Amino acid sequence: MSASSGSRWSLAHLEGVLAAALGGAGVSIADAGIVAASLADADARGIHSHGASRLGIYLRRLDAGGNRADGGVRVLIDAPAIALLDADVVLSQVAAQRAIEIAAEKAAVTGCAAVIVRRGSHFGAAGYWARRLAEQGYVGAATTNTSPLMTAWGGASTAIGTNPLAFAFPSARGAPVVVDVATSETTCGALLNASAAGAAIPDNWALGEDGRPTTDASAAVRARRMLPFGRHKGYALAVAVELLAGALAGAGCLGGIPDMYAEPHRPMDVGHTFLALDPRAIEPEEGGAMADRVAAIQAELERQPAAPGAERVMWPGQPEHERAVRALADGIELPEAIARELEALTGAAPDR
Ligand SMILES: NC(=O)c1ccc[n+]([C@@H]2O[C@H](COP(=O)([O-])OP(=O)(O)OC[C@H]3O[C@@H](n4cnc5c(N)ncnc54)[C@H](O)[C@@H]3O)[C@@H](O)[C@H]2O)c1
Repeated sequence: MSASSGSRWSLAHLEGVLAAALGGAGVSIADAGIVAASLADADARGIHSHGASRLGIYLRRLDAGGNRADGGVRVLIDAPAIALLDADVVLSQVAAQRAIEIAAEKAAVTGCAAVIVRRGSHFGAAGYWARRLAEQGYVGAATTNTSPLMTAWGGASTAIGTNPLAFAFPSARGAPVVVDVATSETTCGALLNASAAGAAIPDNWALGEDGRPTTDASAAVRARRMLPFGRHKGYALAVAVELLAGALAGAGCLGGIPDMYAEPHRPMDVGHTFLALDPRAIEPEEGGAMADRVAAIQAELERQPAAPGAERVMWPGQPEHERAVRALADGIELPEAIARELEALTGAAPDR
């Protein structure tokens, strides 16, 4: 997808446009702001697959009944270091926001807390929630199961979601280390882009409808059988996420989860798990804070010599952090197709 030439959206304007569109669909001002902030943040970091590009499906799902504008997140179980929430089919960023607030409050007292969410839906980029915890000094983790789009390793048909897993680590340098990985070799967005461009894809991205690896992007889109990253290892991690987020929450799992796009009238009923761990709870009196050690590790990784053909070595989260710094200064350049769709949905235009 090529970037739209020239016109840019300031972060505040993009957030405002997204929030107004969600508000128009009946979402409260506060909840619309939470969802809009997560989507605009993803675009600022260059994670366009989880930014404004999702507005259309969120509106469709609100209209069709798969998500509710008027639901209310409920706390079902509230123990000292663990809680269970019912997302009540609201847009799941609203449940995730509540979950990280509760996780941080509990971890401040207990040193470590888990918050599990059931009856959830798409919560955006997993790293956003882990990073928000790291920005408060916690080691944060966030994960979710999702609609099946990927095969099991060795399997021929669609079995499991591209289940993402994120960890974030507070750093004395300010920008946390953020490890935020989908468990598929590539993203659905990349497949759609290759299909639209008529381009061939590597044969480790997806299977075709015959269950064999395909280099035909359009066949891969039709088959919805993406392959896990790292062969069996990505698959194993996807299963761990299915259990940690879906099974632990008592939410839908594997083939029991409706297709987010094809079945907008059906609640997804996925599960999310968030963890907050307070490194300050175990910091020795001597030896320095974990945040200092994270900063030293970031610096050592940056000093690694680049391999031939590579520009430099970065730590996880650094590419997105550097894009966000540039986006704050210069505005966000949305890929052309996303900008066009956003303008069509909202009537809004870039402000830069
Ligand atoms: N909500 C859902 O259902 C769902 C499902 C799947 C994916 N997602 C989201 O999709 C997004 C994209 O996932 P992805 O796996 O394609 O991400 P990615 O491959 O772009 O990045 C994965 C990780 O690698 C790091 N990284 C990337 N390039 C690097 C480099 N050159 N040096 C060092 N580190 C580098 C990134 O900082 C990130 O931590 C994520 O935000 C994920 O949470 C969400």
